[in-house]
Amino acid sequence: MITVLNTVRKAFRLEGEILEMHPLTDGGIHGTYQIRLKTGKNYIFQQVNTSVFQNPDAVMQNIVRTASYLEKYVPEMQVLHFYQTEQGEYLFQNWRVMDVIHGYSMKTCENLYQIQQAGKAFGAFQKAVSGMDSAGLVQTISGFHDTKAYFQELLHLKSSLPEMEILRNWQEQACFVCDCYQKGKLPFQVTHGDMKCSNLLFDRETNQPVAVIDWDTVMSGMPVYDFGDAVRSFASNVSSSETDLSRVGISMPKFEAFVSGWLSECPQTDRNLLIPSVFSVTVELAVRYLTDYLQGNIYFRITHPEQNLIRARNQIRLAQELLKHQSEMEKFL
Ligand SMILES: Nc1ncnc2c1ncn2[C@@H]1O[C@H](COP(=O)(O)OP(=O)(O)O)[C@@H](O)[C@H]1O
Ligand SMILES: [Mg+2]
Repeated sequence: MITVLNTVRKAFRLEGEILEMHPLTDGGIHGTYQIRLKTGKNYIFQQVNTSVFQNPDAVMQNIVRTASYLEKYVPEMQVLHFYQTEQGEYLFQNWRVMDVIHGYSMKTCENLYQIQQAGKAFGAFQKAVSGMDSAGLVQTISGFHDTKAYFQELLHLKSSLPEMEILRNWQEQACFVCDCYQKGKLPFQVTHGDMKCSNLLFDRETNQPVAVIDWDTVMSGMPVYDFGDAVRSFASNVSSSETDLSRVGISMPKFEAFVSGWLSECPQTDRNLLIPSVFSVTVELAVRYLTDYLQGNIYFRITHPEQNLIRARNQIRLAQELLKHQSEMEKFL
């Protein structure tokens, strides 16, 4: 590994041998390492997962464009800074190098203060990019959050599972938000695309977020879906792999913490679509898990053959819980 990392170091013209190397494992998509060089300088070396991101050059183009927009118009925001090779490339054999941002990350946020701070940080990010022209960004994952397309794919498959019927009955309601954007009633905007706890760095002293990281899915999207997906991940009682469905649900204190943080920074997000979006992204994920299960588990990594079916049931249960709490959630907005 050190030999590979030293080759990468040289490609990015960084002086000094590698002294230390620590794998950073909160992510799960790429191979990420914090590197300390003899010069005393620290860097993040990352091997891009090209089965998820098939066009890594376009991913880098989107990130660099977003960083330069933010540097110009929102200078107080901490941006990702990537290095270039001698040829001016941001990738060398699918490796990239960026500056370390000081702070700690966590797989999940447990206390309400952190969740509220996370809401603030992601709301501030959404607000910061809202003035940027999203047409200038490349759609690096085709069909990303196209709920209608995910439904079409599932409903073409043959299955007598009861989950299929439940999802079929939710199709119209779950596609409502997506439809509003696709019909041009609302503008697509630049979105982060992956607003979860491990994509924040927190200050060691104040425990407040210092940066939103992992900009690989920054592209043209639906801001309310980013909100919905964040609520799904920050306010769920359990993870999507929980097998005891009686434990699946939404925590209202966590929901309120996240939403109060988000709205304090980004009050202009289309309010009447915020809660419907939480339902839409949850159902969308259930649809994707069930599709993958029926197609032989090609996309989501599994450790046992029924895992994607269990994940689909888990998200269906969460969607049912969301419907139960809908009016309570809406009151809070
Ligand atoms: N610029 C950075 N400074 C410090 N730590 C970082 C930086 N970028 C990533 N990390 C750490 O590496 C982890 C994985 O990086 P990330 O870009 O989120 O990759 P993945 O797509 O695999 O989630 C993060 O959760 C964080 O702990
Ligand atoms: Mg990440």
